[in-house]
Amino acid sequence: MNVEEIYSTLSGHMLEGIMFHEQLRNCFLFLGLNGFAKEHEYHYLEETKNHMALNLYFQLHHRGIIRMREIKVNEIIPDSWYTSQKDDVDPATRAKAIKAAFDKWVKWETETKHLYEKAYLDLLEIQEVASANYISTLVGDVDNELVVAMDRLLEIENVSYDPVHTFEIQNKLETIFSKKIRHLFGGGHT
Ligand SMILES: [Fe+2]
Repeated sequence: MNVEEIYSTLSGHMLEGIMFHEQLRNCFLFLGLNGFAKEHEYHYLEETKNHMALNLYFQLHHRGIIRMREIKVNEIIPDSWYTSQKDDVDPATRAKAIKAAFDKWVKWETETKHLYEKAYLDLLEIQEVASANYISTLVGDVDNELVVAMDRLLEIENVSYDPVHTFEIQNKLETIFSKKIRHLFGGGHT
């Protein structure tokens, strides 16, 4: 694999990840879980920023333009939801949907971590050490995100998807991630 191919694979995967977080955000908003929704809104925005930075890095340091590869839409919202309304969601459906969403999140970030690690190793193999160092920051980001996703899943599994507990943590998460979003944009964006 040459540098451009490595970056094209990374860029495509990042775009799929951004769409993935957008769907999870919409899914949690639909379930009335605004804290979880805000968390995925943050990842959507943070990863969009990282994707922009990746393209800029490639242009500045490798002097080219990343080719857009085919993007796969990872459809995660059940089809039946499109003909339902927020108010119709019953507790059993909500609990099942929360578990499915968290399982998918952990699975996605695990795949992402492996893909970024492979890109890092591929760059080292062709002696692109500085570029590999840059990609290592993405490996660190996804590693941290994966820990949060696994801990969040463990937390809600430990209370057996108790709706009272799940609703109780929403306000706290919404405050934390609203603040992180403002920080992401230098405090000038909500
Ligand atoms: Fe992510």
